[in-house]
Amino acid sequence: MSSNFGGKVALVTGGGGGIGRALCQVLVRDGAKVVAADRNFQTAQETVSLLPNPGDHLAVSMDVTSNESIDSAIKAITEKYQTPPSLVANCAGVLEMAPSWELDEKTFANASDVNFKGTFYVSQAVIKLLLKQQAPGAVVNIASIAGGYGLRDLSHYSGSKGAVMSLTKAMAGELAKKGIRVNCVLPGLIDTPLVRDTPLADSIIPFTALGRKGQPGEVAEVLAFLLSEKSSYMVGSCVEVTGGYTM
Ligand SMILES: NC(=O)c1ccc[n+]([C@@H]2O[C@H](COP(=O)([O-])OP(=O)(O)OC[C@H]3O[C@@H](n4cnc5c(N)ncnc54)[C@H](O)[C@@H]3O)[C@@H](O)[C@H]2O)c1
Repeated sequence: MSSNFGGKVALVTGGGGGIGRALCQVLVRDGAKVVAADRNFQTAQETVSLLPNPGDHLAVSMDVTSNESIDSAIKAITEKYQTPPSLVANCAGVLEMAPSWELDEKTFANASDVNFKGTFYVSQAVIKLLLKQQAPGAVVNIASIAGGYGLRDLSHYSGSKGAVMSLTKAMAGELAKKGIRVNCVLPGLIDTPLVRDTPLADSIIPFTALGRKGQPGEVAEVLAFLLSEKSSYMVGSCVEVTGGYTM
């Protein structure tokens, strides 16, 4: 079984961010054409400009909380490649910290809309097209140790990531026999802009066997594996990439 993607088109949301960008690099190394999609279009463009043969790849503006924005980005992808993406990595995400008793409605809604709803609707939009063409595909979602274990001052974020784990399993069950595999990854603390200005290192690293943060590339390799045929018997899995959190 090969991890060479043979020119398949991969949509990476949050493609301008730490893990999304690292994933674009790994996927291109392994033979995919990538679409870096981000609400921050400039960072998506930067991702593509850093790839070998940038003209083979595409940066698109996409707000995963808006179905209209998702649809117009997928239209642009289909126009460029004459096919919808067959690989999807939902890497867009937001994290703001607050104790549950101080959390405002806007912060709660943002976590839920980007992390949970966005993951669902981006997947749904692509899956509809693949089913119409009876084409195979793979989806990988990013949950978090917050989703698996719950983290303090992140009740809303933890809930949104727990929801990503459940939707992964539910969709995986629906789609496996149709040739579309859905899996997810639970990263521990990864060195990206999302967590850099937070106190999370103090609460997570002491419970991490390796005693350090992970690098975006260390998560990207697992995401790419789950998108590849090498993981052909993995369906609805939630794989921890944590450096040994709470062992
Ligand atoms: N860094 C960590 O420690 C860590 C741990 C566990 C899970 N995660 C998850 O990994 C994923 C990637 O995070 P990261 O660490 O690379 O963070 P990051 O902040 O570097 O990247 C996230 C990207 O998502 C984009 N984004 C935010 N809202 C969006 C929207 N509405 N539409 C489209 N794009 C949007 C941002 O512009 C950014 O480029 C997220 O889902 C995050 O929750 C990260």
